[in-house]
Amino acid sequence: MKTIVVYSSYTGKTKGIAEAVAKGIGENISCVSLDEIPTDIASYDCVFFGCYIESGFIDGRSQEVLKTLTNKKIALFVTMWIGPYSDDIAKRLRRIVEFLPQGCQIVGTYITPVDDAAGDQQEREHRLAADFAANTMHRLLSTT
Ligand SMILES: Cc1cc2nc3c(=O)[nH]c(=O)nc-3n(C[C@H](O)[C@H](O)[C@H](O)COP(=O)(O)O)c2cc1C
Repeated sequence: MKTIVVYSSYTGKTKGIAEAVAKGIGENISCVSLDEIPTDIASYDCVFFGCYIESGFIDGRSQEVLKTLTNKKIALFVTMWIGPYSDDIAKRLRRIVEFLPQGCQIVGTYITPVDDAAGDQQEREHRLAADFAANTMHRLLSTT
């Protein structure tokens, strides 16, 4: 399955998670910022799309790019401040899904909650993000 990771990142958190996601998917998976999206993006079967929440909403550039994705399978991963079980998270994810064109299938969603007070969590965050990616791919490949 032709797969790519695309991310939006301002301070670098989502970029790091995106790189971990790419490693979790497998070897030699392209991991590109919004500025580096290849012109043949539509030829990918699956896009892992990473973005962050800013002032209660997904970042503006991601909103624009999500509208243009025609890929059948999209896995979303998000970084944000708030705890993983709050209703707020569900609302943010639902809004992101609403930006996707009809016909896209959401094949996975994943949140990295950022807790600055918890100290350096990078290793754990990256390991869990890689697990998400590996599990999503495993599920996709065993059902197609
Ligand atoms: C100006 C600003 C506004 C933010 N607003 C929110 C917010 O409304 N809700 C939230 O959960 N996180 C918010 N965050 C936290 C970011 O989503 C979080 O730090 C994210 O990991 C940043 O991603 P990046 O490092 O890839 O740019 C905000 C961060 C900044 C700097």
